[in-house]
Amino acid sequence: MTTCQIARAEETAVTITIARPAAEHDAARTPLSTLLREGTRPEHEAAESMGFVEQLMAGRLDRAAYTDLAAQQHAIYTALEAASAQIRTDPVGTSLVFDELTRVPSIEADLEFLVGPDWATEIRTLPATERYAARIAETGTSVSLYVAHAYTRYLGDLSGGQIIQRMLERHYGFGAEGVSFYHFAEIPKVKPFKDTYRERLDALDLDDDARAQAVTEARAAFEHNRAMFAELGAVHVR
Ligand code: HEM
Repeated sequence: MTTCQIARAEETAVTITIARPAAEHDAARTPLSTLLREGTRPEHEAAESMGFVEQLMAGRLDRAAYTDLAAQQHAIYTALEAASAQIRTDPVGTSLVFDELTRVPSIEADLEFLVGPDWATEIRTLPATERYAARIAETGTSVSLYVAHAYTRYLGDLSGGQIIQRMLERHYGFGAEGVSFYHFAEIPKVKPFKDTYRERLDALDLDDDARAQAVTEARAAFEHNRAMFAELGAVHVR
């Protein structure tokens, strides 16, 4: 069992209810944060066991592989944070936008360190990443679509991302520079922040169809990550 599976197995099993008759609404509804976590569990485990992810975590790749991942993250977060700026103007969606989560400046600092001052013209975006970013770009006007992508990335970065940072430091000799993407300087304690984020997810005023759409889109978000890791693996895993 992987680190992640152990941590996640500690969570209590729940009965998932996506669609319910209107009369049964509210108090008995499964929280959206639970629907998202349980609804993407198989996809999460699949993403973790991708060759690229496993080999990177085990220290069997090189800095070029990590740099390539950072380049993909630049495209993903540029799209996600443009969508965040849009969703901030939505009366429901605005509660999900936290400035302290903003990642693009950190990724750019990492790329400058890893590639040099011309990083913007030297990096390339893989086809799977282009498709992922294009989908995210469509979500800034839909809370149920946006929430799926924001959840998948930000809660992931605040969870497994913290383990990934330690592995990158250990195996590839990074210090403070190069992996700042994983360090949320404005979130000193990750656990209470994640709790707040989940509370915000659960407080969203979404009907059952919108909640079901969010879970479906979160699965698609994981699939985009899987496809991106497959392309990274084709380049970097021997
Ligand atoms: C080696 C790779 C990975 C490891 C070791 C890992 C590890 C973890 C761990 C330990 C948790 C549970 C944290 C907690 O309960 O507070 C977690 C949660 C999460 N991970 Fe991963 N993860 C990995 C890859 C990914 C990927 C590729 C994604 C998606 C892009 C992702 C998205 C998430 C999300 C959204 C959560 C939050 C689940 C929830 O509580 O709702 N993870 N991860």
